[in-house]
Amino acid sequence: MTGGLTMWAARALSRALRAYCTSAPCPRPSQLPRVSIRDALVSQNPRGENMKVQGWVRSVRSQKEVLFLHINDGSSLEHLQIVADPSLDSCLWQTFPFKYKERYPLQYIRQYPHLRCRTNALASILRVRSEATDAIHSFFKANGYLHIHTPVITSNDCEGAGELFQVEPSSKVKKQGKNFFGVPAFLTVSAQLHLEVMSGAFTQVFTFGPTFRAENSQSRRHLAEFYMVEAEMSFVESLQDIMQVMETLFKSTTEAVLSNCPEDVELLHKFIAPGQKDKLEQMLKNKFLIISYTEAVEILKKASQNFTFTPKWGVDLQTEHEKYLVEYCGNIPVFVINYPFDLKPFYMRDNEDEPQHTVAAVDLLVPGVGELFGGSLREERFHLLQQRLARLGLTDTYQWYLDLRRFGSVPHGGFGMGFERYLQCILGVHNIKDVIPFPRFSHSCLL
Ligand code: 4AD
Ligand code: MG
Repeated sequence: MTGGLTMWAARALSRALRAYCTSAPCPRPSQLPRVSIRDALVSQNPRGENMKVQGWVRSVRSQKEVLFLHINDGSSLEHLQIVADPSLDSCLWQTFPFKYKERYPLQYIRQYPHLRCRTNALASILRVRSEATDAIHSFFKANGYLHIHTPVITSNDCEGAGELFQVEPSSKVKKQGKNFFGVPAFLTVSAQLHLEVMSGAFTQVFTFGPTFRAENSQSRRHLAEFYMVEAEMSFVESLQDIMQVMETLFKSTTEAVLSNCPEDVELLHKFIAPGQKDKLEQMLKNKFLIISYTEAVEILKKASQNFTFTPKWGVDLQTEHEKYLVEYCGNIPVFVINYPFDLKPFYMRDNEDEPQHTVAAVDLLVPGVGELFGGSLREERFHLLQQRLARLGLTDTYQWYLDLRRFGSVPHGGFGMGFERYLQCILGVHNIKDVIPFPRFSHSCLL
């Protein structure tokens, strides 16, 4: 920091602060363009020219002759120190819930959803989130995928799990007994079926948007509103090809985050999740493992550990099972493939195997989180899909989906990755509520 900048900024800031503290009108903005604090900190400013910075006071340290103010505008972890007139030391900042240099547990700052983004920890998480978002878009663009805006409101339940939020107008506009859309409509649980439509024209497509599940869960891995990255690829014939894309997406996004916001990642690894740096290095360095669901159940059955849910072929893997499997695999992410036919949604491709009937499904399990990705080959064979839909009583609902198989069906597949779980995994953040700006979950919808 050069002296010129310090003194100029101190004068500008002291005017602004006086205005704030006395509720007087704001001073007229100077003609100078605003410089972000990130840029101001690296600028050499050899001629001591005036610069304009704007931000929020994070801390005030009072000394006899001067006042030290730390200013942050969200552009960097580091604050700009301002030396100011001590007469300013009478401000509302004293009642601000977070004290400078004090570390608060994420659970504590979660009580202040309107203010927590001004803490170092949340600001770092949200900068990483933004960086990761960019990296994901860049990954797909570089690999020839078209970005599709899939609808938030939909009339299908892609996953068939019944975890839907229904969408209706509020009571004033509601017409008795009539659905606004003419049919029951819901917030999307997955964009997959819409992406399948688009992959039938553009070959490789992706979307990255809000996704909703009415899961009555307060767990550290579930939200009612979360972001999902979904991709769909035509002319893909094996799970291997899908797993390859998942693994490269994970690794290339993470490399981009590590190189674009190293200070933020370092802060989180140091104070929120000690040991996470090494764990992440292991994940990036090693090739992800692959086991079948049947092998996974065998491993679990042989485990010396007592599980709350006894592992059994044909039953879903529980969180405790996923955790054990990842540890068993040396904390390297592991793909579990070929799940029981009866456990999975109608769209997954039948492996037509015996005696244990499976589908070409894949989940990626990662350390600290468990399931991060879910994907599959899709059933592209008309007669098999038709039979399955008929058995489920869904033939009428999915005529359009059958059309995709009638008119130019090709082998295809795809996956979805929970974006918040991805952030938890790379940063080592225990609770999913701390990696999204405004968490929504059962019994909570603050702000
Ligand atoms: O495994 P899921 O349910 O897969 C699908 O929805 C597929 N149709 C995706 C596709 O193939 N296009 O969900 C995908 C991922 C999960 O692995 C998990 O990471 C995340 O979405 N997820 C949640 N994340 C936060 N809160 C929840 N309630 C979540 N439910 C799923
Ligand atoms: Mg799943």
